[in-house]
Amino acid sequence: MKKIIAILLVAMLALCAVAEAPVLTMGTNAAFKPYEFYEGTEIVGIDAEIAAAICEKLGYQLEIIDMDFATLIPAVASGKIDFAMAGMTVTEERLQSVNFSVSYATGVQSIIVPVDGPIKDIDDLYAEGAAYTIGVQEGTTGDIYCTDDFGDENVLKFKTGPDAVAALAAGKIDCVVLDNNPAKAYIETYDNLVLLESDYAVEDYAIAIALENTELKEKIDAALNELIADGTVAEIILKYIPIEEAEEAAAE
Ligand code: ARG
Repeated sequence: MKKIIAILLVAMLALCAVAEAPVLTMGTNAAFKPYEFYEGTEIVGIDAEIAAAICEKLGYQLEIIDMDFATLIPAVASGKIDFAMAGMTVTEERLQSVNFSVSYATGVQSIIVPVDGPIKDIDDLYAEGAAYTIGVQEGTTGDIYCTDDFGDENVLKFKTGPDAVAALAAGKIDCVVLDNNPAKAYIETYDNLVLLESDYAVEDYAIAIALENTELKEKIDAALNELIADGTVAEIILKYIPIEEAEEAAAE
């Protein structure tokens, strides 16, 4: 009898191992509070929680990999990771190499300046004869717009948003262009910096998936639509962003 129980137990364990949920790997750049950031050694934030909710619904385990932002799209396109979720804006150019899920949030490009610096308005950057050094995170829409508008020579590219903000606080550059919610989060520790309100560019955040992986895109869209409809996404956003700003940050 004991032997039979033992055999049964071993068989059950083997079955459990086989039945263990498959893994989906998510690439992100975890220096983008409140969407993705470190709490100790764990990556938390709006994107991490929404991704966990999607994976739970679809029966996958989630593995999050922290990478340089500029490497995320190539990593999705080459199949190195299953999807990228990184407060990533849907752009025409990115749509040439990846697919995007339905949008789950909205971001606005904002400008951070020194409290008593010369830049008081976005228009100051475009003023005749203006030649400011603008800090951006490499590969982001802020980088793309600023490089287009002001030329490579006026744009300093940093590996992360917080690196750009630190350089600004130290007086090395004149302003930083960054998504509004991370901008708010990262200036908190500096009392010599302010955020200029603007609607420079309003953008949709979505999950990037390989062009050929239409099955995964359909699954993610279905799960995400349910999580939007039942209020889970709004609840997660509210956990990290104060109510009046959360309304702006939620996808329309
Ligand atoms: N929304 C911007 C973009 O898609 C910036 C995203 C940066 N995200 C990050 N996790 N660092 O280009």
